[in-house]
Amino acid sequence: MVAERYAFPHKHLLGIEPLSPRDITAILNQAAAFEEVCERPEIKIVPALRKRVVVNLFFENSTRTRNSFEIAQKRLSAEIINFDADTSSLKKGETLIDTAMNLQAMHPDLIIMRHSAPGAHALLARHMQASIVNAGDGAHEHPTQALLDAYTLQKKFGRIEGLKIAIVGDIRHSRVVRSNLWLLTKMGAKVTLVGPPTLLPKEMKATWPDVEFTSDFEAVIPQQDAIMMLRVQFERGTGGFIPGQGEYIRFFQLNRERMKMAKPDVAVLHPGPINRGLEITSEVADGPNNLILDQVTNGVPVRMAVMYLLCNPHGETVP
Ligand code: NCD
Repeated sequence: MVAERYAFPHKHLLGIEPLSPRDITAILNQAAAFEEVCERPEIKIVPALRKRVVVNLFFENSTRTRNSFEIAQKRLSAEIINFDADTSSLKKGETLIDTAMNLQAMHPDLIIMRHSAPGAHALLARHMQASIVNAGDGAHEHPTQALLDAYTLQKKFGRIEGLKIAIVGDIRHSRVVRSNLWLLTKMGAKVTLVGPPTLLPKEMKATWPDVEFTSDFEAVIPQQDAIMMLRVQFERGTGGFIPGQGEYIRFFQLNRERMKMAKPDVAVLHPGPINRGLEITSEVADGPNNLILDQVTNGVPVRMAVMYLLCNPHGETVP
């Protein structure tokens, strides 16, 4: 049988919302091919993005995502420019559009950007010829995180369709949850959002009508195939939405007692960084059900796949 050729139809990855299930599958399949490259004992580099210029533009803090993109770029042999937002002319008052137009004048192929303003990426995409990848925009989307979460779930369960997944915690401020909601509902998973009522915005029901919303974590634990814990995002003002950390821990922490209520092989995910002892105990975060470091490992081939498909829409296999 001749392998099916699928032309990836997007120039940018601004979010999961515009992707079809086929696009998502194409990225996950391409990531599987790149995972094989990442696992080679010696040569972990392919020439797939040779002579392509990739700019990393991070206006918000990042450890995992930024390093993961950079390792992925190195494994694809790209030319990498790290734009340091702290020392750039933005500090002198230059606007994002001016920065974009100056970058455009240097003809990069790909821009990976994290920015606090939802929609900053769409603005950039209108002013640049390069492909733009959203590495997180405020509380809006974080598409590569959802793709690596999906890749991790698919690796464990062999499928995403029909899985029951609870996403727990600071739903209000999480871009990870929004990208995951798009992805998991498009791929046929059954999602339950869990958190205190103040962190579970009712408006989200209008966008995702099939998703269940609850504040009773323990009632939904036994049915779940996977539990994805979210970080309590104090820097985005979460402290004002919860009575206190003690109360939060009492109802929403994933700990040993709650793990006893779960299926024995439940998958525990967390996008990092973890507030150990708050949303999850160290015992569970480091315990046998956790896939947290697998998520980090899988982030590299998934980001390789995204960058490769944006630059090579017919990228059927590893060249
Ligand atoms: C997430 C982010 O920055 O949105 N982290 C990440 O990318 N791994 C989640 C978070 O900060 O809590």
